[in-house]
Amino acid sequence: MTDADRRTRAVKDHYDEMLGSVYSWIVGDFEASYRANTELFATLGVRSNRNQTAFDLGSGPGCQSIPLAEAGFRVTAIDFCEELLVELRQRAGELTINTVNDDILNFDDHIVEPPELIVCMGDTLVHLPSADEVDSLLGKVSNSLSAGGRFVASLRDYSATPPEGPARFVPVRSSDNRIFTCFLEFRGDTIIVHDILHTRENGHWRLRVSCYQKLRLDYRRVIAALHDHGMEVDTLPGENGMVIVSARKAS
Ligand SMILES: C[S@@+](CC[C@H](N)C(=O)[O-])C[C@H]1O[C@@H](n2cnc3c(N)ncnc32)[C@H](O)[C@@H]1O
Repeated sequence: MTDADRRTRAVKDHYDEMLGSVYSWIVGDFEASYRANTELFATLGVRSNRNQTAFDLGSGPGCQSIPLAEAGFRVTAIDFCEELLVELRQRAGELTINTVNDDILNFDDHIVEPPELIVCMGDTLVHLPSADEVDSLLGKVSNSLSAGGRFVASLRDYSATPPEGPARFVPVRSSDNRIFTCFLEFRGDTIIVHDILHTRENGHWRLRVSCYQKLRLDYRRVIAALHDHGMEVDTLPGENGMVIVSARKAS
């Protein structure tokens, strides 16, 4: 197993063993996220009148796949966390969404016809094992898209000075029976994310801690890589410190 394989396995295990079961609760209100993405795609003019294909890389429970299917796309949603794909299928009902359990780096293995649209949202690119793998994915995106096709990514802007001391503890969400906190360790170009979950069971609090490594990826590197692949790129500010990168392949 290569070092990259080991890192991918660690992220997958983290989602399988801890994050997958609480992801939608952590995100907060699925409906709110679904509405925000519906509005974002409308603002970007992302819609399909001819039932074209779209790929959602790191789809999670479907906050993007569902709005895209409603905007007329035939969606392939790729994620390596089966629990989240099951949740997506339950939410999708009759919508045309094909779910695939695989590494997003292999997304092009599942292409039948060149997609009109590829999205990778919610800071998913930083889950890849290295910036080289991000570049490799962006190369595949550019090669796979149909002429004039689009790529949309949302990424966190990590350019601010890393937090120190107590500021490294981030209270994410809490309810009567659950508390979710992150502890962030910035190490050069990577961040070790320790997810801390307290759950109240039969009146007693139970603690679970699990960690994974993500990239402290400069979104400008993503923009530069897309330019290098001959794509036109726009950016717009997203919510909560995110940046939306919207790129188009030449027609
Ligand atoms: C931060 S979540 C984003 C989910 C969704 N796009 C959203 O915005 O809510 C990242 C998702 O990507 C998936 N993921 C991360 N790395 C992956 C990889 N290498 N291959 C497949 N799925 C991956 C995780 O299982 C998780 O569902």
